[in-house]
Amino acid sequence: MTIEYPACALVLLCGPSGAGKSTFAARHFAPSQIISSDQCRVMIVDDAATQAINDDTFELLTHWLRLRLKHRRFSVVDSTALKPHARENLTRIARQRRVPCYALALDVPVEECIRRDARREGRQVGERVIRQHHALFRQAKQEIARDPALAGYHILSAEQMESVTISVGQAAANQRAFDVIGDIHGCWPELRDLWDTLGYQWDKGNLPRHPQGRLPVFVGDLADRGPDSPRVLRVACDLVAANAALFVPGNHDDKLFRMLRGRNVRRTHGLDRTEQQLLALPPQERAALTADILTHLASAPPYLVLDGGRLIVAHAGIRDDMIGRRDERVRKFTLYGDVSGFESGGTPIRRDWAQEYHGSAVIAYGHTPQDTLRWVNKTVNLDGGCVFGGFLAALRYPEREFVTVPARAAYAERG
Ligand code: CTP
Ligand code: MG
Repeated sequence: MTIEYPACALVLLCGPSGAGKSTFAARHFAPSQIISSDQCRVMIVDDAATQAINDDTFELLTHWLRLRLKHRRFSVVDSTALKPHARENLTRIARQRRVPCYALALDVPVEECIRRDARREGRQVGERVIRQHHALFRQAKQEIARDPALAGYHILSAEQMESVTISVGQAAANQRAFDVIGDIHGCWPELRDLWDTLGYQWDKGNLPRHPQGRLPVFVGDLADRGPDSPRVLRVACDLVAANAALFVPGNHDDKLFRMLRGRNVRRTHGLDRTEQQLLALPPQERAALTADILTHLASAPPYLVLDGGRLIVAHAGIRDDMIGRRDERVRKFTLYGDVSGFESGGTPIRRDWAQEYHGSAVIAYGHTPQDTLRWVNKTVNLDGGCVFGGFLAALRYPEREFVTVPARAAYAERG
């Protein structure tokens, strides 16, 4: 059994004392991702067993959580979360930050919780409290199953707790079939045409889904210059949040994220148009989209390693020796490509890293508009220059087929 969470999410552990929540969290998540009520007690009064300071504990816990979610960090709250109001206080923070919230309940028989508690060194809770917890937990399991504030929930038995694997931000861990989509630049009508041509159908939540579960992968540059960047961004956010697509940022996306974070960036190369389109949205819709872009798209990795390393997706490509690295040089390369310098007018001098690529993985990328799609040493540039009147392209992988749809108009001048 595998549980998949998006790259930015809040997971609420839920279960009686002694169920093994803290042990489970330590095994599956990084220490920095775990917000534990015991840790808050220690931070306040040096002792995890002091229950008398519950209000202060919760104040610290929620403050900590708010800050992590503000910075779009995957977070796990390790508390019993047995009572509805305790969960509500946490789901509300996730909702305010527009971060999806999942419950993860550990369903361990009461006698086993009591045994585990008795074996614990240091803090012991005792049989009476654990039996009370169990009564609340029976109720909590039912409430969780119908809680509309949750994006999803799992209830694990003691056996499942031992065998489950958890993946964060890797919807593709077990996926093999992808449709890698080139630079969209706000070309919403063409994106819909492409999904139709690829055989996607729109589900009840108005998201495109492939009947065989193929996963769309965006090579980046979702926005700028084109007719409807907000619609493209909206559907990309929703798909990524639903673990139903993958995304790597392009240079245009990277600049958009900086603008949305309030940084002073130049509104050039079509960003002005995206900004106007965003400003034309109703304020609430704009705020929600901004938060979702920063949650689901800005947390994406610089490049993706898919199908066990046989497929790499990076916006402007990647050199063989960079695969596996995550430093700033690699990030810059994946955003801007192999720029060896600038001409006097400021135009980047680009080198063709693809000509020199001799690795075994397929590399799908975009960034520089092409008139035709062609393979160069197992690399393919999927930017059909749609926004300039070219075409929108997808690579069907592992079939290695190209699917293209023509632009309905030239939305911008090349240059
Ligand atoms: N434990 C165990 N087998 C497991 C999981 C946990 O024997 N599969 C033990 C732990 O080593 C610990 C005890 O059970 O000694 C309780 O686990 P803990 O993770 O501390 O439980 P919590 O659910 O975190 O309890 P609390 O709510 O009191 O923090
Ligand atoms: Mg614990």
